[in-house]
Amino acid sequence: MRALTLRRDGVAIVETYLDDAACTALLDEIHAYAARHELPLIVREDGERALRYKVIDGDAIHEDLPSLVALYERVGALVRASDATLIPLPNRTASVNVNLTPPGGEYRWHYDRNAVTAILFLNSVGGGETEMYANHRLRLGRAKDTLAQRALDRIWRFFTRFTAPLVVAPAPGRMIVMRGDRCLHSVRRVTGIEERINVIMTFDTPGARFRAEENLDPYLYSKTATPDFDPNYRG
Ligand SMILES: [Fe+2]
Repeated sequence: MRALTLRRDGVAIVETYLDDAACTALLDEIHAYAARHELPLIVREDGERALRYKVIDGDAIHEDLPSLVALYERVGALVRASDATLIPLPNRTASVNVNLTPPGGEYRWHYDRNAVTAILFLNSVGGGETEMYANHRLRLGRAKDTLAQRALDRIWRFFTRFTAPLVVAPAPGRMIVMRGDRCLHSVRRVTGIEERINVIMTFDTPGARFRAEENLDPYLYSKTATPDFDPNYRG
């Protein structure tokens, strides 16, 4: 198994984790799933950049898409080879997702709830670049979701206006692995006519707790239910 080396800023980019044939096989399974199930467009306005995407959540993947479960296990082995304390996220809904971002779609600026996230691109599209400010976050303490941390995140985010983000374009088989709870990240608007499709795989240490979980899941996955505050933080 190849080694995974995170840069000092907590990001690794694997240029070809999967070859084109493997990406095409997964895309065929995802398109077949999408043809059998209605995937609603989830829209959450959020200032400068909205959340506007479709998602196949981890529950659906574990029930209907075994190839993606196997992929999650292989990437998990790679991640654990660099940090043996990490395990798949126990929250099955959030553990492995497929994000389908149509033309005009984008993903708001955020930190992840979990420690490490792998983003595997399956295709290339116009726009849809992932933008990252790696190792950007100033932490007030171990809790990631307090209102005080939210205030600090907002202030600190202002200073990103003066520095350029790391920009990674979607390409089949390219994978980003990052310290997701420290890296401020976002997806630029998808242009052209192709839907951007990637797989999100999440990891954390055993026993990690997220007080925001109960609100974050409906925010990310539900067509209708949505809290009226930023669910990455405890209300
Ligand atoms: Fe994220």
